[in-house]
Amino acid sequence: MKVLGIETSCDETAVAVVTGDGEILSHEVLSQTKEHMPYGGVVPEIASRAHMNALDSLITKAMRDAQINNFDELDGIAVTAGPGLIGGVIVGVMMAKGLSAVSGVPIIPVNHLEGHALTIRLTDKSVEFPFLLLLVSGGHCQILKVLGVGQYERLGISMDDALGEAFDKVAKMLGLGYPGGPIVEKYALSGDASRFNFPRSMVGKPHCDFSFSGLKTAVKRQVDELLSNEVPLDTFTHDICASFQACVGDIIEDRMKNAIKLCRQSTPQISTLVVAGGVAANKYIRQRLENICLENAFSLKAPPIKLCTDNGAMIAWAGIEKLKLGETSDLSFVPRARWPLVS
Ligand code: KG4
Ligand code: ZN
Repeated sequence: MKVLGIETSCDETAVAVVTGDGEILSHEVLSQTKEHMPYGGVVPEIASRAHMNALDSLITKAMRDAQINNFDELDGIAVTAGPGLIGGVIVGVMMAKGLSAVSGVPIIPVNHLEGHALTIRLTDKSVEFPFLLLLVSGGHCQILKVLGVGQYERLGISMDDALGEAFDKVAKMLGLGYPGGPIVEKYALSGDASRFNFPRSMVGKPHCDFSFSGLKTAVKRQVDELLSNEVPLDTFTHDICASFQACVGDIIEDRMKNAIKLCRQSTPQISTLVVAGGVAANKYIRQRLENICLENAFSLKAPPIKLCTDNGAMIAWAGIEKLKLGETSDLSFVPRARWPLVS
C-alpha cells in the first residue's frame, strides 16, 4: 500500500509518500518561515499564495523520490481537509481532488489533529489503542483519550491560547522571531528559571483544562516593566524564556497528573502517554512528561522531532490508518476551517 499525503493547513507546504507498513518513501517540507518572519506570525493570505506556488513541484519531487511514475500506482491520496487556515486547506484539497479525479485513486480527507495524534503509530509500531494523548501545537492544546482511529474522548482543552501560540507570543515580545518555540527553548537553556515567577494558571484545579492567556499577559507586563526601567533586553531575555518554560512545565505536570488519574478510573488499561504536535519537539517539556510518566508507571512515547511539526507523512499515515478500515470519501467533502476531533 502506498499513500500520498498532502498538508497545507498552516505555514508548511508538505508532501510525503508512505507505505502501509510505515516506510516513508519521500518527505518534502517547505517552510514559509521567511515569508511570515517580518509579521511575527502566520499571515493567512501570504500562506495560501505560498502553498499555491509550491505544491505542484513538491508533489512532483515527492513522487520522484518515492520512485512512483504515475498517480494510479498509489493506493490513496490523503489530504488535510481541516482544521486550519482555510485558504491553505482549500489549496491542498483542490489539488488532491484533481489528482484523485484524473487518476481514479481514492481520496481520504484527514483531520490535521488526527494526523498529529496517529503519527506515533507510524514511528513506533508498539503503540496500540487506547492511549492518552497530549496534543500541543500552534493552534491546539488538548488532552485526549485515543480509543481508536476516529475515536477520541476529550479530557481537557485550553480555554484560550494554544501552547505553541503562547511560545510564539513570548518570542515576539522579546523580538526573537518566528516560530517562537524552538528559539525560546534554545534561550531557556542558559537562563535562570527562578528569576521570574509567572502565574501557574489552573494549577490545583480538579479538571484537565488549560489557560495560557494570564501567563502571556504576565510575561508581557514583566518585559514592558523591565524595558521602561531601561534594563537592556539581553540581560533578561534568557531568564524570561527559562522562567516561562518552567512555568509551562509546572502547568503541564499538574494537568497531566489529573488526566492520568481520570484515565486510571475510566480506562485502566491505558498506560501510554503520547505527546504530539509542534510543541512536542520541546526537549524540556518531553523531560517533564518523562518524569510524570515515571512517577505514575506510564510510558512516554513521542514522535521524532522532525515529525512533531507539520509534515506530509503524518497525513499520509492517518490516511493509511483510515484506508485500512475502508474509510475513503467521494469528492463532495468540503475544506473546513474548524473541525474539532470531538464534537
Ligand atoms: O504542529 P505545528 O507545526 O503546527 C500546528 O498545527 O499548529 O506546531 C507549530 C507550533 C508553533 O507554535 C511553534 O512555535 C511550536 O509548535 N514549536 C515549539 C517547538 N517547535 C515548534 N514549541 C516549543 N518548543 C519547540 N521546540
Ligand atoms: Zn499541526
